Amino acid sequence: MKVLVTGANGQLGYDIIKLLDSEGIEFWGTDRESLDITNEEQVTRVINDYYPDVIIHCAAYTAVDKAEEEKELCYSVNVLGTKYLVEACKKIDAKMFYISTDYVFDGEGDKPFDVLDQPNPINYYGKTKYEGELEVQKLLEKYFIVRISWVFGSNGNNFVKTMLRLAKEKDEISVVADQIGSPTYTHDLVKLLVEMIQTDKYGIYHATNEGYCSWYEFACEIFKQAGIDVKVNPIKTEDYPTRARRPKNSRLEKNIGVVNNFSQLRCYKRAIKEFVKSNYFE
Ligand SMILES: NC(=O)c1ccc[n+]([C@@H]2O[C@H](COP(=O)([O-])OP(=O)(O)OC[C@H]3O[C@@H](n4cnc5c(N)ncnc54)[C@H](OP(=O)(O)O)[C@@H]3O)[C@@H](O)[C@H]2O)c1
Repeated sequence: MKVLVTGANGQLGYDIIKLLDSEGIEFWGTDRESLDITNEEQVTRVINDYYPDVIIHCAAYTAVDKAEEEKELCYSVNVLGTKYLVEACKKIDAKMFYISTDYVFDGEGDKPFDVLDQPNPINYYGKTKYEGELEVQKLLEKYFIVRISWVFGSNGNNFVKTMLRLAKEKDEISVVADQIGSPTYTHDLVKLLVEMIQTDKYGIYHATNEGYCSWYEFACEIFKQAGIDVKVNPIKTEDYPTRARRPKNSRLEKNIGVVNNFSQLRCYKRAIKEFVKSNYFE
């Protein structure tokens, strides 16, 4: 089996290629230089030449607030880039893994969103990620759409690293307490993705660590695991204005993974503990 990974220098792509390597699976981790997904001609040529059995598409425009201003760029990466990959994937009959997001949902209500619930994104990034999903579904049958949320990993910036940095700079930190979701540790997620690529149980999945929390509770857990004594103040979304709106309810229902006998990710608290141990106390 040959696997091509897009966005291999990103948080998730980086951990995927590490795992593929240690599992002895043949892969090519592409970056913007070797495979700029917005360059249609390059996408067609690279995919045709490498001829992978599986494409794990992690490359994306992920700057959620900036996306409200850089709409054209965000659209070209998340929608057009995905479309080009999908077309190239179709020609060689490869399996497509499209990594998507909780931000495809509007966050209304307090029930976890099921894979069958209708997306209704409330920010531009979410809108383009959903349009990317539609490109995948329009042309392919052999696809996995895996929606993840609140991602943290060792490569790149994320909420956990930001909190650990802020704790060094401030005595008090205010964190939003009325947006609820689930953290996803890339180190845990990639094990599931590598399990999935070896099956043909196609469809839409939700994959995060177990348990729901607010960003405030997420922050408190990070400081607890890191043994940091800092005052954390719970605040409302309205008190932390951002350019892009965020869903209040980002809970994802993961039952479809259980039904299909895929492994579930451990509790987010244990994932934070491991992340902090290997990235903070090194
Ligand atoms: N981060 C989250 O909290 C989160 C939550 C839900 C879903 N997701 C989804 O999970 C996936 C992985 O996210 P991540 O956190 O790993 O993102 P990331 O760290 O921002 O990585 C994205 C990668 O895509 C690359 N990229 C951007 N434009 C490209 C282009 N035109 N051609 C080729 N590569 C390009 C970036 O390269 P450069 O470094 O050169 O810019 C970067 O390496 C994405 O699909 C994202 O939408 C993320």
